[in-house]
Parts: sequence; C-alpha cells; structure tokens
Amino acid sequence: MSFKMKMEQAAKSKGSPLVLALDFPFEPQQNREKLLVKAQAVLKAAYPYVCAVKINHHLTLPLGTFDGVSQLVEQIRGQGLLAIMDAKVNDIGSTNQVIAEYYFAAGFDALIANPFIGWDEGLKPLFDVSHRLNRGIILLCYMSHKGAGEGYGQTIIDPDTGQPTLQYLSFARKALQWGADGVVVGATVPQKIAEVKQILDSEVAIYSPGVGAQGGAAETAVKAGSDYLIVGREITMALDPAYAARQLSDSIRGI
Ligand code: XMP
Repeated sequence: MSFKMKMEQAAKSKGSPLVLALDFPFEPQQNREKLLVKAQAVLKAAYPYVCAVKINHHLTLPLGTFDGVSQLVEQIRGQGLLAIMDAKVNDIGSTNQVIAEYYFAAGFDALIANPFIGWDEGLKPLFDVSHRLNRGIILLCYMSHKGAGEGYGQTIIDPDTGQPTLQYLSFARKALQWGADGVVVGATVPQKIAEVKQILDSEVAIYSPGVGAQGGAAETAVKAGSDYLIVGREITMALDPAYAARQLSDSIRGI
C-alpha cells in the first residue's frame, strides 16, 4: 500500500487529519534523557487525536537519528501512526539517496523534500529509493512563513508552455506529474491551498503547517482543501497537550 493510502487509512481510523509536529525549544543545557522522556510523554498524550507524527531537527540533532529518534519512531508506528521526517531534502541526487536510505532505515514512512532542486539528478534518485522501499515523498509547494512568497510565490516562465505562471502552481503540477504522495502548502495561505487543490484534486494530498503559533486557522485551511494539518507548538507547548490536540481535532471534525 502506498504512503498516501496508509495516511488515508490512519486518518480514517483515528478520525483525525492532524499530524503532530513533535518539536521542542532549544535548551542550552540539554538533558537528552529528559528531552526523550518529554517527547514520549507528549506523544502518549496526543496520539489518540492524530494520525501521524512529524519529526524535525528539534529531535534528530539532540537525540540522534538511530538513538532516541528511532525509539520514538518505533513508539509512533506501534500506535498505528505514520512517521514523517521533515528533512526538507535539498541536495544533489546521490546525497539525497543516502539521506533517504538512512531515514528510511530508522523507520520513517515518508520524507519531506524541496522541489527547487529539480528532477534529474535531484529528486529522481530520492523518488527511486522511496519507491523501492515503499515509502512516501512529500514536496514543499508553498511554505507557511511570511518570506515564502520570495521563492514559492515568484512568477516564472513555464518551460512547457512558455507562458508566465506562479512557482507554487508549477510545483503543484510537477508533484502530480512526479507522483508525489503529498505537497506542503501553509495553513497561513488558504487561498493558495484552494488554488493548489484545483490542480491536485484528490491525487496528491495537501499538508498544511502553520496552524496556531504561525497564525493559520485550522477550520479555514480544511475548508480551503487541506487534507492534513501539521501542528506543533499549539500542542507540544500546551499545558495539557492531550486537551489541545483533542480540541483541535474536534474543531475540524465533519468539515
Ligand atoms: P508549529 O509549531 O508552527 O510547527 O505548528 C510547524 C512545524 O512544521 C514545520 N513547518 C514546515 N514544514 N513546510 C514544511 O515542510 C512548511 O512550509 C513548514 N512550515 C512549518 C516547522 O519546521 C515545524 O516543525
């Protein structure tokens, strides 16, 4: 079964399209054991309300991919959730291939990658590894932060038509053509979610970070066409992460 289909099943069985971004702030005197325990506790509290967990450098840097993080990945998958590595893979193909092999060996179900690197000798080797190991690739399309427009919002000349088009719309068309499992469009730009949805329909899923801490609204993003909401600090920094995750999940149920 493809990663895209596994996500659909997980979201259905959990009754939630939330992807928990298991992020914690930098602590100068990092006690790794304490950080791992904290991550495990938030995961335990939030898992009934989410269908997947996204891990970022917040945990791979202090805990190590094959030490603490692979333990977390095992815990995530043991709960029937999928594990996504937010590596934003962005290098030449041979390097991307090695990055992917390591993260997939650590148990991750999917990786996030940057389409600016292009297909030949860039993304293609990454997609090849992910197909061989039956894992998923999610591509950035329009990021959630304010400066995203400087790159993803540029007007470019479409190499196929010779006509001007917007970078993120071109990335959405390429994601479809390349068979990506998903694209990332910020919850902070609901109009762009709707435009991308017009292109992708249900062929490629839309993942939207930026809810809460970055100012995006869950309900608006889902109404615009997001399939999954990626949520970090709103849950991980809450006094009661279980309550925060449940509230969010309830707020978009049935939309
Ligand atoms: P917060 O705390 O803002 O965390 O809910 C969001 C998480 O998602 C990451 N992030 C992104 N990842 N494309 C991505 O692939 C994006 O546009 C994007 N915006 C935020 C962020 O690093 C954090 O882990």
